[in-house]
Amino acid sequence: MWRPPERIRHQPSFGHVPSAAQAAASRLFSSVPVGALTLAQRTWVPAMVPWRATEDGFVTGDVIDWYARFARGRPGAIVVEATGIRDIPSGPLLRIGHDRFLPGLHKLVEAVRDASGGKTKLLIQIIDFLSIRRRPPKDKYFQRFLAITDTHRRALATSDDNEVRAQLFAMSDEDLAQVLTPREFESYQFGDRERVTDTHLPHIRDLQRVLPGLFADAAARAKEAGFDGVELHYAHAYTMASFLSRINTRDDGYGGARENRAKLPLEVFAAVRERVGKDYALGCRYLADECIDGGNDVADATYFGVAFARAGMDFISTSRGGKFDDAKQPNVGGVSYPYTGPSGYECMPQYISDEKGPFGRNKAPTKAIREAIHAAGLSTPVVCTGGVHNFEMAEAMLADGACDIVGTARQSLADPDWTLKTQLGLGASVRVCEYTNYCEGLDQKHKPVTCKLWDQVERDDTHTKRTSDGKRRATAPAWDPATGTPG
Ligand SMILES: Cc1cc2nc3c(=O)[nH]c(=O)nc-3n(C[C@H](O)[C@H](O)[C@H](O)COP(=O)(O)O)c2cc1C
Ligand code: SF4
Repeated sequence: MWRPPERIRHQPSFGHVPSAAQAAASRLFSSVPVGALTLAQRTWVPAMVPWRATEDGFVTGDVIDWYARFARGRPGAIVVEATGIRDIPSGPLLRIGHDRFLPGLHKLVEAVRDASGGKTKLLIQIIDFLSIRRRPPKDKYFQRFLAITDTHRRALATSDDNEVRAQLFAMSDEDLAQVLTPREFESYQFGDRERVTDTHLPHIRDLQRVLPGLFADAAARAKEAGFDGVELHYAHAYTMASFLSRINTRDDGYGGARENRAKLPLEVFAAVRERVGKDYALGCRYLADECIDGGNDVADATYFGVAFARAGMDFISTSRGGKFDDAKQPNVGGVSYPYTGPSGYECMPQYISDEKGPFGRNKAPTKAIREAIHAAGLSTPVVCTGGVHNFEMAEAMLADGACDIVGTARQSLADPDWTLKTQLGLGASVRVCEYTNYCEGLDQKHKPVTCKLWDQVERDDTHTKRTSDGKRRATAPAWDPATGTPG
């Protein structure tokens, strides 16, 4: 992962540890309405892909254990990982693009309900993404993948395509950059990646016709499976975020000006709302800042936040960065990963950082979005995530008006009981996330995600379930709230 050149080390801490009585009187542990739902507290576990689904997208016992473990800590809400809305092979990512996925998803809902004693609300994040290919070996790219055009023939002064391919193969990267178009050069260096602006491709040109129905069908399944709500994934490097992006120059009314870029996200929302009804919690996750050159900034995000709130979303959750545009070049045979460049750093900042540090980087832009929503006369709850790892930080964000609900991804992974421990006045026993991004490294390799603070603990017990490679414990060690000890 890219890291800021300053390389300043920042130290996460417990912050002020409240007593049980202080926690009970706090904002963080007060209830909050999210559309027709009420969260018992303002703690939220945002979506995190743990790489535990089957190769064809079904819920496994490991998926259930993963979410049940979070649920034992009884956060206000958990959002299940990005789950694909299409019925197409997507590797071990959860899928919801067909009714055959329903029984597994239903079991997952039941497991979370049981493990949290009905206290935690369960939402699911639903996603669409475009195709991306592995970085090709040079010979394959020039012998098979590249479509030879007149530009290449002219540049190389031959009409024999085999000769063109042979000449290109023999060229240095510097020379290739002169002969290939920027897009061809990128496909050669990174692997081919579709964009929403590829409107010469019929399936991309028709996205606005197809996606509202696909999202609506997926959300209807989520409702049928028993989820309490749905989060539309409009963030990071995926289709809907790409429609919102300033980089989206589609000229069919769905790109260019902000209102055009918001059009499909709003149409998707309207289609989903119509299908799931007014009384079903429905919101989106999107970027408070794309953190890339020429991408959306806070002013764009503020505009979209108000538009989403006006349209009737029940919540708005923010993230930042996480784009392909500035990702590191993958090795030959590898796939580009949108969290390897500066924008990826903004999404999941590490403890080695710049002066701003890794904690709360998304606070100021999210506050601006929330203020704009309020200025528009609306009070849609806003979830802010990024580097939050203790009660003091979370409470300050709520007190400052940065958000209504506090998302903690890696801190919840490090210690799924952190909110329960804090609520019981046992905050000094929280395993505080160190922000080393060991978990993110596993995510990048599509390996089962675990936390380095617990994956080697008690792993030799016969009752401790391990990851599929047998090397690490699969979920955080148990903790017994009745005794305050490992259970
Ligand atoms: C292993 C892992 C998987 C993630 N998967 C998703 C995902 O499926 N959808 C999403 O919106 N964000 C995803 N994220 C980003 C987190 O939700 C969160 O925004 C990010 O980690 C920053 O928050 P934090 O500092 O509290 O960890 C993932 C993060 C991690 C560490
Ligand atoms: S591995 Fe654990 S401690 Fe390290 S960043 Fe991930 S959650 Fe935090």
